[in-house]
Amino acid sequence: MGYKRVVQATPLIRERCRELVLDNDKLRKIMEVFLNNVHRGLRKDTHPTSIVKCFPTYVQDLPNGTETGKFLALDLGGTNFRVLLIELSHEHFEMKSKIFAIPQHIMLGSGEQLFDHIAECLAIFVKEERVADQKLPLGFTFSFPLSQTGLTVGYLERWTKGFNCSNVVGNDVVQMLNEAIDRRGDIQIEICAILNDTTGTLMSCAWKNHNTRIGLIVGTGSNACYVEKQENAETWNDVDMGSGNVLINLEWGAFGDDGALDFVRTEYDEDIDRNSVNPSKQKQEKMISGMYMGEIVRLALERFTKDGLLFGGKGSDMLFERGRFYTKYVSEIESDPPGVFNNLRDICEELGLKHASEQDYINVRYICECVSRRSAHLVSAGLATLLNKMGEKKVTIGIDGSVYRFHPHFHNLMMEKIKELADPSIEFDLMLSEDGSGRGAALVAAVAARLQKEKQAVQT
Ligand code: BGC
Repeated sequence: MGYKRVVQATPLIRERCRELVLDNDKLRKIMEVFLNNVHRGLRKDTHPTSIVKCFPTYVQDLPNGTETGKFLALDLGGTNFRVLLIELSHEHFEMKSKIFAIPQHIMLGSGEQLFDHIAECLAIFVKEERVADQKLPLGFTFSFPLSQTGLTVGYLERWTKGFNCSNVVGNDVVQMLNEAIDRRGDIQIEICAILNDTTGTLMSCAWKNHNTRIGLIVGTGSNACYVEKQENAETWNDVDMGSGNVLINLEWGAFGDDGALDFVRTEYDEDIDRNSVNPSKQKQEKMISGMYMGEIVRLALERFTKDGLLFGGKGSDMLFERGRFYTKYVSEIESDPPGVFNNLRDICEELGLKHASEQDYINVRYICECVSRRSAHLVSAGLATLLNKMGEKKVTIGIDGSVYRFHPHFHNLMMEKIKELADPSIEFDLMLSEDGSGRGAALVAAVAARLQKEKQAVQT
């Protein structure tokens, strides 16, 4: 009487989940290898064979708050495709947007179909917004690995996140979009920048907070970019417009594709990879991001149920169905206070697991926690590596993505772990980006326009 029962996962479940726990020794090992990968990506001689690509983005300058104008933006690369109209004025911006679905047959169809679809959505939008008669500058947030040779030239290196359209890899996606627009012949657009969502996130946070030096996405996919000195970015070959810096799109999702993370990958990670549209690619992303997190949990639940450790050994068709345990469940389950299982009870009912016991709830929550913590810890190890490398004393990290936004503890897990792993003299904070992919695209376009104007003013 009077004692609160200790709510703990059963010892066998804890034991089986041990492989999902990354202690600081393992994380430090990961940091060391990751840093090495970053150096390889930056150096000219090792770049071609490097796993972490460190692509220069051709964005050299951060916004200074004076950017103004009316811009269109496209945002492709998460769960949705969006078209936006953005008006920047000093310290203020307005935005209208429309979301369009990208049906599965287009995600896996031909490149021409994909870009025709994008051009069609764009045409619908500019007509609805009554700006079809203006030739507005457009920033294209295209959140896949691009090898760039300029601000408006980007060759697709590989598809990720469930996309697999034919005849795009190796091609310049700006040119493909321009061709699709020309095929229609009913709209006029000037594409003035192509960028990654991490770049957009960094730019949109930097607009408000001038210490922003890193952009991070933990959403459908995962990736980061950061401010590097041009002299360190050996594959960069453009003129310095004055800052001496260039943003580097790390493409850290590919980390581990050479086996570097095999010492911490589990049978669930291997299963996810084998059954994806891009086997043996994006191995770190598959351990971190929202496209896979729910499925990792489901695979563990399936295995433990079949081994008689959960639900009295009796699962359900839905529990055993690929993709049926959504990542949002993980956030919902962990949003209940400890010892309360309101969301989890509903989810179990939804999955045909009415027979779940209180101990099952405790166990399932524990498994979710292990998987989401591991993700937050891997992200933190990557960020701590960058913070240590950059050597700046005060850094804001701009962040976007559904996992960071909706998981109730992700932010705190990251704060705690980065503090443990980064040099203690570095001050950092984590800032949620307000629509980096949209506003960031407008900002990249606007900064490019501002620099161009400044350059012309100097020449005349
Ligand atoms: C892509 C990156 C992108 C990230 C987040 C990854 O799959 O390769 O370019 O930044 O997802 O959207």
